[in-house]
This record gives sequence, C-alpha cells and structure tokens, in this order.
Amino acid sequence: MKRLVGALLGAALTMPCATGAQSRETPAAAVPAARPWMNQRLSPGERADLLVAAMTLDEKVAMLHGPMAMPLSPRMPMPPGAVGSAGYIAGNARLGIPALQETDASLGVTNPMMVRGAKDMSTALPSGLALAATFNPDIAFAGGRMIGGEARAKGLNILLAGGANLARDPRNGRNFEYVGEDPLLAGVLAGESVRGIESTGTVSTVKHYALNGQEHNRNTVDSVIGEQAMRESDLLAFQIAIERGRPGSVMCSYNLVNGQHACQNDMLLNTVLKRDWRYPGFVMSDWGAVPSLDAFNAGLDQQSGEQLDPQVWFDKPLKQAVAAGTISAARVDDSVRRILYAMFAAGLFDASPASPAIDFAANADVALREAEQAIVLLDNRKRLLPLARTAGRIAVIGGHAEAGVPSGMGSSQITNPYRSGPVPPISVPLGGEGMMAMWNNVVFHPDPPLAALRAKLPDAQIRFDTGMSPEAAAAAARDADVAIVFAYQPSGEGEDVPDMALPIGQDALIEAVAAANPNTIVVLETGNPVRMPWADKVGAVVQAWYGGAKGGEAIARVLTGELNPSGRLPITWPVDESQLPRPAIPGWTAGPKDPVKVDYTIEGADIGYRWFARRGAVPRYWFGHGLSYTSFDYANLAVLGGKALSASVDVTNTGSTAGEEVAQLYLSERPTGPARRLLAFSKVALMPGETKRVTLKVDPRLLADFDVAGHGWKIAAGRYTVAIGRDAGNLANQAAVKLPAQKLLP
Ligand code: BGC
Repeated sequence: MKRLVGALLGAALTMPCATGAQSRETPAAAVPAARPWMNQRLSPGERADLLVAAMTLDEKVAMLHGPMAMPLSPRMPMPPGAVGSAGYIAGNARLGIPALQETDASLGVTNPMMVRGAKDMSTALPSGLALAATFNPDIAFAGGRMIGGEARAKGLNILLAGGANLARDPRNGRNFEYVGEDPLLAGVLAGESVRGIESTGTVSTVKHYALNGQEHNRNTVDSVIGEQAMRESDLLAFQIAIERGRPGSVMCSYNLVNGQHACQNDMLLNTVLKRDWRYPGFVMSDWGAVPSLDAFNAGLDQQSGEQLDPQVWFDKPLKQAVAAGTISAARVDDSVRRILYAMFAAGLFDASPASPAIDFAANADVALREAEQAIVLLDNRKRLLPLARTAGRIAVIGGHAEAGVPSGMGSSQITNPYRSGPVPPISVPLGGEGMMAMWNNVVFHPDPPLAALRAKLPDAQIRFDTGMSPEAAAAAARDADVAIVFAYQPSGEGEDVPDMALPIGQDALIEAVAAANPNTIVVLETGNPVRMPWADKVGAVVQAWYGGAKGGEAIARVLTGELNPSGRLPITWPVDESQLPRPAIPGWTAGPKDPVKVDYTIEGADIGYRWFARRGAVPRYWFGHGLSYTSFDYANLAVLGGKALSASVDVTNTGSTAGEEVAQLYLSERPTGPARRLLAFSKVALMPGETKRVTLKVDPRLLADFDVAGHGWKIAAGRYTVAIGRDAGNLANQAAVKLPAQKLLP
C-alpha cells in the first residue's frame, strides 16, 4: 500500500483532469429500440431483471470490477469518464447505464490526492465516534443527507460511507470512523446516516463487513470468534444498520474471519448477508481485499480498486470460469442484478443532473450541530465549567488550538485546501515507532477553538502558549486564573495507535500545567480513549473528539456555557491497557505480511461495558457516561412485556439550566443470569423543571441469544429485569417483567 501511495504522489503531478461521464462501448450488441427498464412504475427488482436480460456477458462482466479513480502511474492513468475519487465502474451507453462514481464519504466527500483539483471543497463532519456520542439518530440522518447532497453536486453517486465495525479495542486506528462499541447504538446511527445519504439519490455502503477490529496487519489478521458471539455483536450492528439504512452496497473487509478472507467468506456473504438477512444489494470488495476468483462464488459481487489486488479476477478469469462451467451464468446474473437493483432503488437511472452549487454555510451548520451534541463533559470535579465570568485571565495551551481541530487520517480524511482565510492550513506529519498510518498527516480543520473563545469572552485576557515547552506552558498557567490544555491523539487508517498514552509529551505537559495551576481544564481531541495519569490533578476534562469543520466553535460554546454538553460516551474508557481483553495488540511485533490471529473468543459478544460488567471491573468512565451543567432525575419506570418489551419513564430536569439527557435502558438480568446490554436510548431536551415521559421500545434480539443449532434468535421464557442507567455501570430504577418463550428469524 505504501508503494502505491508513493506512486500516487508521483503521478498526481501528471494527472489529466477528467470530468463528465463517458461510457465503455460494446459494439457487438445493437442499441435496443426501447428501454422497458426505464419505466418508473416498475419496482427496482423488476427493472433490474429487464435490464439484465438485455445484457451481453461482456457487458455484465464490465460491471463487476473497476479501477481506482485516480492516476496511479503513467501506465495506469485516470480512467476516462471518472469524476475522480476512490473508484470507478464504467457505464454502458448502449443500455443507458450510468457510470458508478465511487467516493469515500464516512465524514464528508473526500478528494484523495486532490484528484478533482485544489479548489474542490467538502464539509467535514466530526469523527464517527463523535457522531455516536450524540446518541442522536436525527443528527446521523442530517449528516448523511448533507454528505449525499455534496457528493451528488460533484457528480459522485456511490458513497463508501456507513462504517459500522464495533470498537473492540481502544487502540484501533480506525475507531474514529466507526460508531462505538454497542451493536444497537452503532447499528442505529450507521443506519440513519446511510438512510440520510440514500435519501439524496445516491447509493450508500456499510463497511467493513466484518470483524475488522484492528488495523495492525489488517490484510493478514484472522478474527477468530464463534458464530453465536459474532451474530450477537458485530453482525447485529451490521444487521440493524442495513435494516434501517437500506444501503445499496456492503463492503467486505481486508481481514480474515475464522480462517477465510472476509471478501471470500461464504458464511458471511452468502449465508448471513444474502440468505438470512435477505439483503438485495451488492457486495463490493475493499480496495485490494480480493484474494482470488473464488471470492465470486463465495458471494462477492464486485472487485473494487482492482489494481490493488494480485490480479483483476472479475474480468477475463471470470469469463473463462463461466466458459468452463465453474461459475454459472445465473451467478453472474445475480451479481449484476444486485448492482442494478441498488442503482434503481437509489434513483441513479432516473435522476436529473444535480446542480453543482453547494450551500456550504448550511452544511457547516450541520457539522456544528453534530460537533455540539457530541462533546462529552467527562469530569467537572472542581466545577470549573462553564468558565466563570470572573475568569479574567485564561491560558490556552497546546493542541494547535490557535490553528484548528485535528482530523483522523486515511481514506476518510477531508483534506480541503483552505488556502484562503485568516488561518493558514496546518498539517502535522507524524513519525516515530509504531505510528505509521497510511496517510500520516493530521490535518487541522481551520476552526480554531482559540479564536472562538476570544470572540465569546471579549473581556477576558486570553493568552496562547503552544505547549511545546512544559516549562513555558506552566509559566503561562501560573499567570492565569484558569488554564485550558488542548491535547490531541493522531490516529488513522492502516495502523493502530501503539498504546493508550497521549503521544508527543502531552501527559508531561498536562502534569506541568496542573502543578502550576490547580484550575486546569483538559480538552481532549482524540480518536479513542486515552490513559489519563493526571486525572486527579485537573479540575475538568472535556472529550471533543475530532470535531470537523466547526469543531472549534462547538468547543468554545461548551466551555463558555453558551451550550450545555449532552454527549455520552459511545465507548468504554478503560484506565489502561491492562483492563482490556488483550492487553497487547495481537501481532504487534509480527512482520507486515505475517499471519496474525486475534482471539475474539475471549470477550465474545461482551465488548466494552459488557466485558467490564462480566468481570466486575470498573473502567475510568463507563459507556454512556457524560455530565451536564444541569441535573436530571427519573421516576415512574413502567415496563410492558408480551412479545415486545417496552418501558416508559419520567425524566425531569432538576437543575436551573436547559439541557439534553440521554435516557438509557439496560438489561440487567435474564432468566439465565445477569446480562448487561443497552436495550434502547432516547435523547430528550428539557427546560429547567420540565418533565417528559419517554417511551423506549426494545428490539427483541437484544433480549435473545442467537441459537446456532436452531438457526435463529431465541428468547427464554421468564423474568427480565431492566433498569435506567446513568451509564452502563450505574443502573437505578429497576423493573422486571415476564416474557414468554419466543423464536425469531435470524
Ligand atoms: C478503505 C476503505 C475505503 C477504500 C477506498 C480502503 O483502504 O479501507 O474504507 O473505502 O480504501 O478508498
């Protein structure tokens, strides 16, 4: 991959600028007199069937593979017709099939290697983990809709978004792209953002299917886990995301699952996804994740980023296999039909061209709202927040707070040029052992918290210190009423962070500042939970994640009390690595091509808070934790049983500030014994003194076991105890209900 990136860098200068959609011609077949599949009264499936019936084998196979949409080398130029981004599948002029213009879009529409030119801008949302911290499906939908709209305006129609992998390890370099550790939360939020994207007439993807739980040796790592555990955890997150979002495509991942590559995994693709879940869309490979032609019969439909694989399997070798009878014509038809189905369902055949105009101001508001709802007030032990009006002298220290807010690295990174405006672009190249992310530059989105704080506190004296020297920073802190240290953690695709420590000497910086001024606030801008050896010495800690295009404004609003924080942790925050199922990252010392096994049977489906609950261990902060500038109380919990469990509870804002609370319903006991599972959640806005009754409906699969032998979900008859949780570790307001035995489809 690194060689490839080098080649890309070399080629970027010579790249031709290609726009517009050109199509690959197939001169052998005549232009059809009529195109019955263009009848919009037919269903997407009927239209796909009609079109498949009109296609030649060559035309079908042309849809099953495609190159990257970037110039890789003089011999591999930009594919003609590609708008330019992650990938491209040529259209078909004879049949009127539009080209597939694929772009990464987890956090915004990317422009890798500035392939669409240096002026192409996109709105950057906060990280996926930040989205998960909002606990707000509406925010997820709005973000997806925003990204889908920007993609359409740029002529891109297949969005490689919808990351739904569960956070099994707080060192995973890519957790920032995903939506936390819980299958319900991740499934709902990934699903809603996918639904938002598809509502714009573009196809969305969920990825990386499945069990792509670490980046280290991601091409050779084998995720070992039993079927019941995977169905109840990682697969359930995908299942919920797919049900809610109805993505046109699913991207299979780089890793192996139980010895079989995920993109060549009959169990994951054919049995679970296509048969059990009756998924009608198509499976595309991750870029360079196809080990052989066998992947096709195992359920993979499209070979993407084909130059990265050892061979373009899904072209000539596939046709030869059809001729030899080892791949059936029906299997080819099925794949093509799935791709066409996704295109028809999203409206790709019917849409009129979108206007290239983008309302960046409106889209920045979407990014701001998400960043605001995502910020988690982790600790406020000295009540330093919101900043007192009396805080006349404030020292803002470190984290490039004068420049912007950091981004995660890799294919999801928004690398807007931002050459104009008051803030210069800043990118921090990383180096050092163990940290070799593929695109190893942290880009700082130029919405600096420092400027936002100054604008909101015009009467305060705010001094900035870079934090490069702990001594100088301590001196600045000593001179101030309050010190705010910004600390960041680079993380990104292609490698995990080596450990949970804040890098670049930032722990020492915080210790020095806290020793100089007890009124120290730490603002963390990280991709993951980090160790906090200084936790007892500082007065407040705020988790601001990677905040996106409006991250600085959101942080300043929370610090000054203009906004009451309402984010909750979507991932359990361990004290340190010793509390993890795997204290060391599996294969950390292995060579890059060495096979590595990661044993997920240790925790099975009990990821994050469930692992801690099972062991009776206490993390630094539980999943679901987050403080507010007001207080909330719960009363009158009532639970209804029967076929579907639901609970209602009164939530009251008992403080004097308006705020939002996340009502969290957990399972605490089943007939078979204790269990800790998030059953439902709902974010509710409350004025001071206001009470609202919240109803929480439970997906029955969350009460069930997956019964492998019986091939379905099984709810045991008996008593179920549920509770409202301040977080996953602090349950109160318990109630119990009896449920009958039930079986549910897989
Ligand atoms: C990533 C995918 C991404 C693809 C195309 C891969 O390296 O794993 O998430 O969609 O590249 O850029």
